Amino acid sequence: MNDQLIIFDTTLRDGEQSPGASMTRDEKLRIARQLERMKVNVIEAGFAAASNGDFEAVKAVAEAIKESTICSLARANENDIRRSGEAIRPAASGRIHTFIATSPIHMEKKLRMTPDQVVEQAVKAIGWAREYTSDVEFSAEDAGRSEIDFLCRIFDAVIKAGATTINVPDTVGYNVPEQFADTIRTLIERVPNSDKVVWSVHCHNDLGLAVANSLAAVRAGARQVECTINGLGERAGNASLEEVVMAVRTRKDVFQCDTRIDATQIVPASKLVSGITGFPVQPNKAIVGANAFAHESGIHQDGVLKHRETYEIMRAEDVGWGANKLVMGKHSGRNAFRSRLQELGVVVDSEEQLNHAFARFKELADKKHEIFDEDLQALMSDESSEPKEHFRLLSSSFHSETGETPCARVTLSVGGKEAKAESCGSGPVDAAFKAIEVVADSGAQLLLYSVNAITTGTDAQGEVTVRLSKEDRVVNGQGSDTDIIVASAKAYLNALNKLHAKLERVNPQI
Ligand code: KIV
Ligand code: ZN
Repeated sequence: MNDQLIIFDTTLRDGEQSPGASMTRDEKLRIARQLERMKVNVIEAGFAAASNGDFEAVKAVAEAIKESTICSLARANENDIRRSGEAIRPAASGRIHTFIATSPIHMEKKLRMTPDQVVEQAVKAIGWAREYTSDVEFSAEDAGRSEIDFLCRIFDAVIKAGATTINVPDTVGYNVPEQFADTIRTLIERVPNSDKVVWSVHCHNDLGLAVANSLAAVRAGARQVECTINGLGERAGNASLEEVVMAVRTRKDVFQCDTRIDATQIVPASKLVSGITGFPVQPNKAIVGANAFAHESGIHQDGVLKHRETYEIMRAEDVGWGANKLVMGKHSGRNAFRSRLQELGVVVDSEEQLNHAFARFKELADKKHEIFDEDLQALMSDESSEPKEHFRLLSSSFHSETGETPCARVTLSVGGKEAKAESCGSGPVDAAFKAIEVVADSGAQLLLYSVNAITTGTDAQGEVTVRLSKEDRVVNGQGSDTDIIVASAKAYLNALNKLHAKLERVNPQI
């Protein structure tokens, strides 16, 4: 057996369900383009019926992406499925993923439906979905706590109705590897026509077992794994894409299958998702953590220098580390700038946007002589046209001296009109945010502030993420600059612009 393992990425759907990780349409598009570059087979772009914003985001991804299948999640009801069908219509290859709960506790307490009604509803759902696409996935929500006989019964019925992928979610992360593998093996043995469909798994990480359970299921015959970049997702998250992909690739002898993933795109994808969501990656995280390939002990360093494989089972460059290419400097021209953006897969909407970005690139190159790919990506994120900037930083000055209270003065453009304000704070960032609030008076609450160096060196740009909440909305703002106080002010204003434009969806949880 040397099969293909289908990688189904749900960063934009289940990942987005992490509190505080909701993304705008443009952010989803940027991540989707990176997933396509990475050669992910299926991108679950969202839950089209959740809101108009979600519908538009799934549709935009379906329009833009050509090399991956685009999927929308839908509960097993007619409205959800028709919204999903409409949203994926522009896709070169589109899938509807419909689900209904099958565990006794969910059927009785949540759905208040009998098992017979659940089977009937699931079969109807597949029929509606088949009106839009022949690629239909069915999930038995909370399969990990469902009765095996009932799973066999419902899967038999939905396969007969036309489902082509059968997904077995461990929704609450309750399973352990051997037992989960047994479940998958039993289902494949007992469900009629099991060889006509793709068996898929979707594991949550509540016991830290999402990757282990997914891999055990692959050994038992599953040929699709649902996962997310950095393991983002509800509660403790989903199985992490990078860990599943690299485990299968590194241990082909054990798994007897491989994916089509371009692993050199993994680290850029991880950084992009972390930057957009503001969820940092822990340094010791497998594959994408900053220390994943760092050898500290002398014995290890000595071994690696003598023969790399003494202590390394994967090469850092194979997963996209160390690809920090020095691309350009202040003498680089506009054409070189344009073609490097193309190579990075960054889409520029117009000549005007290119000119504006190029001018900013020149400003950056004056401050920072070495410009890396990551700098260009950060610069282009700032250029993103969404949301339209209601608040914009025109100029700023900060004063901070030992023994004195730090103060900030900002000049903003607010809806096209200039406004000035100043304030003091416990530090210069606090002072800058307070000065902005003198003008904006948003009433928003600051939930998170994080700063990361985009590249190495003390002249690196700082990339700041600010998470704000107001009423029932949570937004993330990003800003980058060689001056981290300026980057902080930009990130704060970016978050305020999102609140102003009401771009985030309300209560994304399903
Ligand atoms: O965890 C889960 O059960 C899900 C389904 C909707 C697939 O996310
Ligand atoms: Zn899930």
